[in-house]
Amino acid sequence: MLPTLRTLWEGLCASVDEASASKTPQFLDEDYPDLTGAVWVVTGANGGIGTEVAKKLARKGAKVWLIARSHAKLEETVQLIKTEQPEAQLDTCVMDFSDLTTIKPGVQKILSNHTELHGIIHNAGVMFAEKGLKTAQGFEYQVGVNNVGPQLLQHFLDPLLERAMNRDPRSDLRIVWISSLALYLTSYEFDKPNDTTRSVTERYAFSKAINYVQSVQWPLHHPGTQVLSVAAHPGIIKTELFRHTDSFSDRLIDGLKWPPEYGAYTELFAALSPEICKEGSAFVVPFGRIGRVSTELYKRAHSSQGQKLWDWIDEQIEPYK
Ligand SMILES: NC(=O)c1ccc[n+]([C@@H]2O[C@H](COP(=O)([O-])OP(=O)(O)OC[C@H]3O[C@@H](n4cnc5c(N)ncnc54)[C@H](OP(=O)(O)O)[C@@H]3O)[C@@H](O)[C@H]2O)c1
Repeated sequence: MLPTLRTLWEGLCASVDEASASKTPQFLDEDYPDLTGAVWVVTGANGGIGTEVAKKLARKGAKVWLIARSHAKLEETVQLIKTEQPEAQLDTCVMDFSDLTTIKPGVQKILSNHTELHGIIHNAGVMFAEKGLKTAQGFEYQVGVNNVGPQLLQHFLDPLLERAMNRDPRSDLRIVWISSLALYLTSYEFDKPNDTTRSVTERYAFSKAINYVQSVQWPLHHPGTQVLSVAAHPGIIKTELFRHTDSFSDRLIDGLKWPPEYGAYTELFAALSPEICKEGSAFVVPFGRIGRVSTELYKRAHSSQGQKLWDWIDEQIEPYK
């Protein structure tokens, strides 16, 4: 099924809005709060937007856990950040979201070092992985990496957020789910999350729509929480994300891409801006503004359909908890 005309129209309006919006980020490093003593987790931190986010959090004094699937790439990233910021407090965790058996052992390092956590940015992601490709547990690859794996990681980190909240109910704690403008390019068939017959473009779009659903459903599954769960589209950013894109399409959009630091401005607006506290939840757009998703996705994410989708992922990850 294709996206409805209304969804496509809303997507077009969102693209025009993005193209015409001021490109000057308004929420910058100097506006971020002092993060001394805070512990943050950033996934997909070995390159692209994730590295820039980790740098900025560390510069404000946070202890940052960098998560990626390659130990060697993580070490390189740590060296890179340490060259610029010798005082940065960084540590690393290796896990591969395409194999759920790696997540529990990977996260142990964080769990044995900390009792509290102040924020997590689910930034890792894959786009346009080969059609029909599946994760180790048989999930469509993009849904597996972009949604199923991150929900399992979040499960292990939940108690740390809860402890931070109980110790100081005034703490500003955040979960950021990195989505995309691509979420307008799917028909939101939530009852077919593991369909491997769709095009890779549609499945990427679907996985990014689920990231929004996860931002909406996390608080609904954690009643009484004060942790803010937010989704963000970082912008069209020049990174390795386009590695599976054919060279013609890549060249076509190359001129529209922004440097990775701009993607970090968007993600850190979602992670740190006081404006999010006023909203309670949000969909953040480039380079740090409150935006909106399609009417249909908004409705479905807040309905029993969104709840069932979260619960379906929960059932899949249960054996790996
Ligand atoms: N760039 C854009 O224009 C754009 C637009 C909209 C949304 N986004 C979103 O922004 C986020 C960051 O992407 P980016 O642009 O910075 O791309 P990127 O440079 O490709 O970074 C993606 C990160 O995710 C990691 N990753 C991929 N597969 C993984 C797996 N199986 N297990 C663990 N980690 C894995 C990558 O690790 P490896 O290096 O090992 O592959 C890398 O660290 C993604 O969620 C993406 O969907 C980006």
